[in-house]
Amino acid sequence: MTTSQPASGRCPAHAGRPARPDQPLPIYGPEFNADPHATYAQLREQGPIAPVEISPGVWGYLTTTYRSARYLLQNTPNRFAKDPCHWHALANGQVPADSPALMMMQPRDNALWMDGREHARLRHAITSSLARVDTHALAATVTAIADQLIDAVAPAGACDLVAQYADPLPMLTVIEMFGTPPEIGHRITTTLARLFDADQDAAAANADLETACLALTRLKRASPRRDVTSWLIEAGLTDEEMVQTILLVIGAATTPSSNLIMNALQRIITDPRFAGSVHDGVQPVCDALDEVLWTDPPVSNYSPLYALGQQTFEGVTLQPGYPILVSFAAANGDPSLGLTPTSYAGNRGHLAFSAGVHACPAPDLARTIAETAVERALDRLPHLTLAYTPLTRRPATFNSGFTALPVHFQPTAPLTPTGR
Ligand code: HEM
Repeated sequence: MTTSQPASGRCPAHAGRPARPDQPLPIYGPEFNADPHATYAQLREQGPIAPVEISPGVWGYLTTTYRSARYLLQNTPNRFAKDPCHWHALANGQVPADSPALMMMQPRDNALWMDGREHARLRHAITSSLARVDTHALAATVTAIADQLIDAVAPAGACDLVAQYADPLPMLTVIEMFGTPPEIGHRITTTLARLFDADQDAAAANADLETACLALTRLKRASPRRDVTSWLIEAGLTDEEMVQTILLVIGAATTPSSNLIMNALQRIITDPRFAGSVHDGVQPVCDALDEVLWTDPPVSNYSPLYALGQQTFEGVTLQPGYPILVSFAAANGDPSLGLTPTSYAGNRGHLAFSAGVHACPAPDLARTIAETAVERALDRLPHLTLAYTPLTRRPATFNSGFTALPVHFQPTAPLTPTGR
């Protein structure tokens, strides 16, 4: 959820507010990344919403309970706004320009950062288009993409399931869902890689990305097909709205889906309750996905919200002007829910896909992508074991995933001899 140019000039400046709340705990850095739940437990002791340092010099609050997360999400946009124009530190130029939080939390001209009628209009275009995706055809697409990726590694008997499988698969799938021809698809994937490469010119990469999305839009306006781009056009979006919406959906779909695939594979390979049973088909992959969505949600903390005026929740005073991140991970791990390892299978009460007006519009598509990808890897890579431990986690402030998932397996022949 990080692509496209930040919106500018939409927000009034807010002067004279302190940027730092009292006694914040950091939700970044090696200690936090290694065990985020230890920090969530400490924060929960302070209250249902507690002060945090989101990244160096960026202050805000985090929800620590299931109730507080739901309260904020379900009272948006009446009591809480999504639009970062309410973020005082941003308006006052107090957020470091190179902050990782800025990349994830600054305003952009798409539905994710809007409130009210504009959000509803753009979201309706997205939900009505995604609702037309045929999940059986999607599963077939994912299987074909999975097979290409697996063909490239199967004979070697070893690979990194993050770099060579979980990361590329959702991106290739979404590009296919948008009916993107190979040349434009290649431009989108390479410019996205440039955007995240610190050595590259981000502004130039961003401009190239928008040009590629505009080319896709013009192509589909001229000759519509049965794909998400054509359905978004049919929903009445302008060229500019098309570009920003394509970038939103690509950004929103890919990283969380990659995380779910790698987190589920890691759990299945390493947890004795799954190791063996899922491989043998005794316990279905969907149970492992449910458990991971509860205990290791792909989007750990996000949906920054801003109190509209001073408010109180369960005795905590919420001042306007500060971002309050919703912790999907802390909500799902809230001990007051009384969950045990047997509570998860088939239980969709988790907040991994958020809730309320900005809830993920595609949980079923996400599950189809992840379930098909995990099943295909287990089917085609027999006797998966980790090549080494411990694994390293990616920065856990907003997402939950691994930097690498190095595995050994029994070498097999590719389905397509050239490894196409
Ligand atoms: C495991 C995979 C996924 C997870 C865990 C996930 C999770 C989420 C979460 C937590 C949000 C709320 C973000 C916020 O309010 O700031 C969200 C929003 C969104 N997601 Fe997903 N998502 C996944 C896959 C997808 C896929 C596959 C698509 C599209 C094909 C998608 C499209 C979107 C869009 C467009 C939004 C913004 C909705 C709005 O603001 O109204 N997501 N997702």
